[in-house]
Amino acid sequence: MTTSAVDTDQLRFWRGEFGRSYIERNPASAEHLGARVALWAKILERLINPPPKSILEVGANIGNNIRALRTMSGAEMYAVEPIPEARQALVSQGVLDADKVFDACAAKIPLADGAVDLAFTSGVLIHIHPDQLLQSCREIYRVARRYIVCIEYFSDKPEMIPYRGHADRLFKRDFGGFYLDNFPDLQVVDYGFAWKRVTGIDNATWWAFAKPE
Ligand SMILES: C[S@@+](CC[C@H](N)C(=O)[O-])C[C@H]1O[C@@H](n2cnc3c(N)ncnc32)[C@H](O)[C@@H]1O
Repeated sequence: MTTSAVDTDQLRFWRGEFGRSYIERNPASAEHLGARVALWAKILERLINPPPKSILEVGANIGNNIRALRTMSGAEMYAVEPIPEARQALVSQGVLDADKVFDACAAKIPLADGAVDLAFTSGVLIHIHPDQLLQSCREIYRVARRYIVCIEYFSDKPEMIPYRGHADRLFKRDFGGFYLDNFPDLQVVDYGFAWKRVTGIDNATWWAFAKPE
């Protein structure tokens, strides 16, 4: 595993007790994975021309998205994840080989420009302080060759909301608009909403963008 350290209050929070309890609350259960499979089936059917041959999840945790993606894609998969216990689970549970798992964060991704066909976040940009958000999206844009997917909580205007009783740990906004405003060459491939009542996904909005060649 490669290390690329950046430190913020938010990252310290995830690397500590909160991150460990998050892992316990969110196991790779059949229920969790089924919901991800259904969501990714919808997203991937829009990314077929050509389909991604390599995929990076930024903030993968124990790999619930990667496990779901494996059921429908033969792409080479990679993960960036700051929590040591989550990286350990990715490797020990056979989700990824150790050389595909990076001890890093979105603001400094230890991969070359255009290293993967698709780079994505799922419930991760919401946990990045607004001061670090543009740098983080720049990195995701830089390493993605063809596609960017963003699955996050939506709000019309940027707002901080308490996260399990903690201030400054969850920031909602129109992340799709943020990408388009800062990377105007991105093309909208599709977007959608995963309504919790029927999908089991926590009311997340998703966007899929294509990067021109
Ligand atoms: C809410 S969990 C989502 C996990 C996973 N993406 C999923 O959808 O199941 C947030 C994850 O993002 C990671 N994370 C937090 N800040 C990050 C950052 N700045 N860069 C990369 N990952 C980060 C956390 O360690 C945690 O694993």
